[in-house]
Amino acid sequence: MAVNLLLGLQWGDEGKGKIVDVLTKDYNIIARFQGGPNAGHTLEFDGIKHVLHTIPSGIFHDKAINLVGNGVVIDPVIFKKELDNLGKFNLDYKSKLLISRKAHLILPTHRILDAASEASKGKAKIGSTLKGIGPTYMDKTGRNGIRVGDLELSDWKERYRSLANKHEAMIDFYDAKIEYNLEELESEFFEAIKVLKTLTFIDSEEYLHQAQKEGKTILAEGAQGSLLDIDFGTYPFVTSSNTTAAGACTGLGIAPNKIKDVFGIFKAYTTRVGSGPFPTELFDEDGETMARVGNEFGATTGRPRRCGWLDLVALKYAVQVNGVTKLMMMKGDVLSGFSTLKVCTAYKYQGKAITHLPYNIEPENITPIYTEVKGWAEDLTGMNDASQLPKELNDYISFLEEELETPITIVSVGPDRKQTIYR
Ligand code: IMP
Repeated sequence: MAVNLLLGLQWGDEGKGKIVDVLTKDYNIIARFQGGPNAGHTLEFDGIKHVLHTIPSGIFHDKAINLVGNGVVIDPVIFKKELDNLGKFNLDYKSKLLISRKAHLILPTHRILDAASEASKGKAKIGSTLKGIGPTYMDKTGRNGIRVGDLELSDWKERYRSLANKHEAMIDFYDAKIEYNLEELESEFFEAIKVLKTLTFIDSEEYLHQAQKEGKTILAEGAQGSLLDIDFGTYPFVTSSNTTAAGACTGLGIAPNKIKDVFGIFKAYTTRVGSGPFPTELFDEDGETMARVGNEFGATTGRPRRCGWLDLVALKYAVQVNGVTKLMMMKGDVLSGFSTLKVCTAYKYQGKAITHLPYNIEPENITPIYTEVKGWAEDLTGMNDASQLPKELNDYISFLEEELETPITIVSVGPDRKQTIYR
């Protein structure tokens, strides 16, 4: 049985959580493959808004098993808070939440290192969520990390101590001085570890191999977006994992030839939170309208998101890198009321028009070239069938499908599960 992937094609916050939640009924297993609590997946149903950071977005369904894969980094303190929130809804998460023994742990000192590194960069800062993501993946690739499976070993606390001591020396090395009380942070951390240990730890790659043999359906859930990928994103303004399709293979132990559909999620416009280049960014009323109507504030940090027109050059790149087979367009409703929409179809780069993403997309090198299309006035938020969509929106969709050579199979017109239109 094949595995399908679902991932974001822009700079994150495309609405992956909502779509995973909507699709979960068709899957036996939802498996998160990378990132950590830097993600904020928002789900809305029955008038309640839920935000998940590390736990896969299928957790609210009765049957699906939700797996936190080996490619994920887990902060036990944030994980415990997520569990506490689920507990408030009387959700029996223990029976359907599994954690890979190979997932790495975010230690309190990783978070402090993140803060010290960012503060010392001054204007060049990445705009990290400060959740300790970069330092934890550095310890993973540096072969120093502590994994979930280590918690079952008797000497893990000694390994913890030695790593934390090393981190403290590194924190001192930075010019920026960060105030912290390690004792307090550690007591919270060790309490949270106790809770984490009440969950089921597994050899997740083996579990997924068996599940495939038994014909189970698996949806691999990505976090962040393709333009934040450590290799293919707008480096160094990226996160520290592979957010693109290949990340699902390494982050879950799934072989590439087992992957069938790749669902690419994108917003009808573009947003970015944190620093880094953003060629179609708007600094005018149009951008403000998108931010206001789209409620563009980070689900993890609450920071306002930068907004701009859809960048087809970047989107095409993401479709190619990921091998997207089906597109899902989010927040179509936010564009209602714009008489004209702009879509960036090329960049002016070194005096020439180009249609691929070059090595360096800093604003001084790139001027977006726009194609204008007619907007629509209708409020889409009450629509639930493709036949109700206004002509101009259908034209916008057809234009994008043609440019991206990929069908758009879902159009989302609001945050609720019900506001989802299949095509
Ligand atoms: P980090 O992953 O926290 O180190 O942050 C690196 C960059 O990725 C920053 O620009 C963050 O704002 C951005 N980022 C990380 N996670 C997300 C996400 O889930 N959505 C959007 N941006 C993110």
